[in-house]
Amino acid sequence: MSNPFKRCVTVIVGMQWGDEGKGKYAHIFSKDAKIVLRTTGGNNAGHTVVANGEKYAVHLLPSSIIRDDVKSIICAGVVVDPEVFNQEVEEMQNKGISISRDNLLVSNRAHIIFPFTKDMDLYYEYIKVNKVGTTKRGIGPCYADKMNRVGIRVGDLFLPRKELEIKVRELIKVPNILFGYYRLSWILKTPIRLLQKIFHKEIEEDLGFRRYRVDDLMQLCEQYKNYLKDFRSDVQIVIGNALDKGEEIAIEGAQAHSLDIEHGDYPCCTSSAPNASGSLSGAGIGPMYVKRVCGVMKAYCSRVGAGPFITKENGVVGDYIREEGHEYGTTTGRPRDCGWLDLVHIKEAIKVSSVTELCINHIDTIGKVGLRNHNEILICFGYYYNSREISYVPLDIEKCIPMYERFEGWSWEEKPKTYEELPENCKMYIQYIENYLKVPITYIGIGPGENDYIRRPVV
Ligand code: IMO
Ligand code: MG
Repeated sequence: MSNPFKRCVTVIVGMQWGDEGKGKYAHIFSKDAKIVLRTTGGNNAGHTVVANGEKYAVHLLPSSIIRDDVKSIICAGVVVDPEVFNQEVEEMQNKGISISRDNLLVSNRAHIIFPFTKDMDLYYEYIKVNKVGTTKRGIGPCYADKMNRVGIRVGDLFLPRKELEIKVRELIKVPNILFGYYRLSWILKTPIRLLQKIFHKEIEEDLGFRRYRVDDLMQLCEQYKNYLKDFRSDVQIVIGNALDKGEEIAIEGAQAHSLDIEHGDYPCCTSSAPNASGSLSGAGIGPMYVKRVCGVMKAYCSRVGAGPFITKENGVVGDYIREEGHEYGTTTGRPRDCGWLDLVHIKEAIKVSSVTELCINHIDTIGKVGLRNHNEILICFGYYYNSREISYVPLDIEKCIPMYERFEGWSWEEKPKTYEELPENCKMYIQYIENYLKVPITYIGIGPGENDYIRRPVV
């Protein structure tokens, strides 16, 4: 029997700490795709697409939502905040994009983020000594509830009221115990309100913590049903049919390798596995359907939140990169930490995700930074670690000292249209990266616009 698996899936994966410009490539690849999927994370992502002179920022919806001939699907691996879902749908509609079941579906298996899930995110950050610097969108606690098997899925919202109520009760039992009101009032036989006043007033005022009531949550569920009823679906049927026909599918990866819960900088990472396999798992697609895995990287590094970043530049260089690259969070508006390109991390990301080609963004930015920085750009190719040279990422990466190769900057008057037209210094920079990583660089981002890239055929 011949191979029944048609290779029709393109996976887009972030190679660094997120914000590499995955949205731009999802937009490019969705020109050929019939279906585009979001498969991990939730509205902790921030993907920007510039199309037809307009800038679109999405967090939860796949960025393909701006194309009405593409089916955008939020898959089982995603955690969905229905308020954000509704808000993004409305925002897009206000921009003249028509959204219906024909071009947007949400898996019945995706898990729901409630307001209390977001409170839990705040609460964990509040009590932790080593803070993660999460986006505070409730992503981690929602996945925790999912793993504890008390989560509520999109499809569960539509269960008969009694069945849903049992699930809601299970879900809020632990947070209510954690916040202590229930327990203490039960032990001390003191009214909850009084306990709240004595023990938690300050926390409550700061962070808005409260006891969660079944009735309130049931009411919210009713509201969420309205937001989701037109879009919920057993999406595995739609995806399965497309796979059978060999239709082009693109997975718009969110987050990135170094934020991966398995392979990233644990615990300063996100709570899903956004590597290629994790992204496929979140979609419900097996590895034999994959045609290509596109790793998206920037020509330098940036990071938001806590965690090790050994090529970070605290001084003027960091400022130059932030200014030239507009490195402020799409999701939280936080200024991103910036520093030199670290190829050791990316080499590992390539193995974990079996990356077949690389898309590099901000080649224009790093060239200008070089010119401003006394004509010097650095690339990290290895680390000093316990008095030896290594080229892997150890658990205690913060103890490593980066080893750098030096390059000169560049800029251009007229935008180059082909690889050959790029300045020589720029080509040397790209060639070095390619030789080191041994993966072809097929797209080179030369600006923020929709067409600001150079396509470089694989030779
Ligand atoms: P895109 O898809 C950059 C980071 C957060 C924080 C850590 C954990 O735009 O590349 P979480 O809210 O996920 O529990 O936060 O992960 N983080 C991202 N950083 N881009 C992202 O997504 C991110 N998603 C999560 O800043 O450090
Ligand atoms: Mg982001």
